[in-house]
Amino acid sequence: RKMQKVIAIDGPSASGKGTVAARVAAELGWAYLDSGALYRLTALFAQRQHIDWNDETAVAQCAGCLPVVFDGGRVLLDGEDVAQAIRTEAVGMGASAIAALPKVRAALLQRQRDFLTEQGLVADGRDMGSVVFPQAACKIFLTASAQIRAERRAKQIGIACEGVAFERILSDIMARDEADRRRSVAPLQQLPDAHLLDTSHRTIDEAVRQVLDWYREDCAVLCK
Ligand code: CDP
Ligand code: CDP
Repeated sequence: RKMQKVIAIDGPSASGKGTVAARVAAELGWAYLDSGALYRLTALFAQRQHIDWNDETAVAQCAGCLPVVFDGGRVLLDGEDVAQAIRTEAVGMGASAIAALPKVRAALLQRQRDFLTEQGLVADGRDMGSVVFPQAACKIFLTASAQIRAERRAKQIGIACEGVAFERILSDIMARDEADRRRSVAPLQQLPDAHLLDTSHRTIDEAVRQVLDWYREDCAVLCK
C-alpha cells in the first residue's frame, strides 16, 4: 500500500534537495527529514570518539546511539550545536564513507522512519524512495549539472566560481557522487517510478511548484 503522505526526494550533492524539500514540507505543513544530516552526524560523532571510519561495527554502534536533538535550526550533538560543523566537505566525505557500510545503514533505518508524523513527511537523501520509504506516494530524483552544483556550493561558502578552490569543490562533489552511485548497498539511482527534476536552469520556486504539482497528480492517480 502506498504511503499517501510521504514525498521522497533523492539526488546528488548540492542539487537543491534540502532547500526544495524543506520548502515543500513548509507549504504542506508536513515534517521534514534531512537524512544526510544523520550520516554526517554519525561520521562526526565517530571521529570525536576516535573511531576509525572503516570500523563498521564501532561506527554502527555510534549510529545506533547518536545523542542528537533537532531543535529548530539547531542540531545538538551531546548538547553542542554542530549545525555548521557537519556541513564541511570533510564531514561530507566521512558521511559518504560510513554510508557504504551496511550495518551503519541498518542502524539508521528506524530512526529515519520515526520522522513520519500523521501530518506527513518530505524526506531527502539518496535512498528515500528505494529503501526507507519505498511506498512513498511521490518520488523525485532531483539533479543539476556538476558544474552548476559546484557553483551553488561555492556561493554557499562564499568563494569565487573559478580558480583552484573552486576546482577542488567540483572534483570533491564528483568524487562523492561517484562513490554514492557505485556502492553496492543503497546506491544513489534514479528509480523507474521517480520524476526526474533537473534544476540546472530552474529557480527554487519553480522546483517547489513542480514537486507540489507532481504530488497532486500522483495522489489523484492513487485515489482513483
Ligand atoms: O541538499 P542539497 O545538498 O541537495 O542542496 P542544497 O543545500 O539544498 O542546495 C545547495 C544550494 O543551491 C543552496 O544554496 C540553494 O539555495 C541553491 N539552489 C539554487 O540556487 N537553485 C535551485 N534551483 C536549487 C538550489
Ligand atoms: O548535502 P549533500 O547532498 O552534499 O549531502 P547529504 O545529503 O548531507 O549526504 C551526505 C552523504 O551521506 C552522502 O554523500 C551519502 O553518501 C550519504 N547519504 C546516504 O548514503 N543516504 C542518505 N539517505 C543520505 C545521505
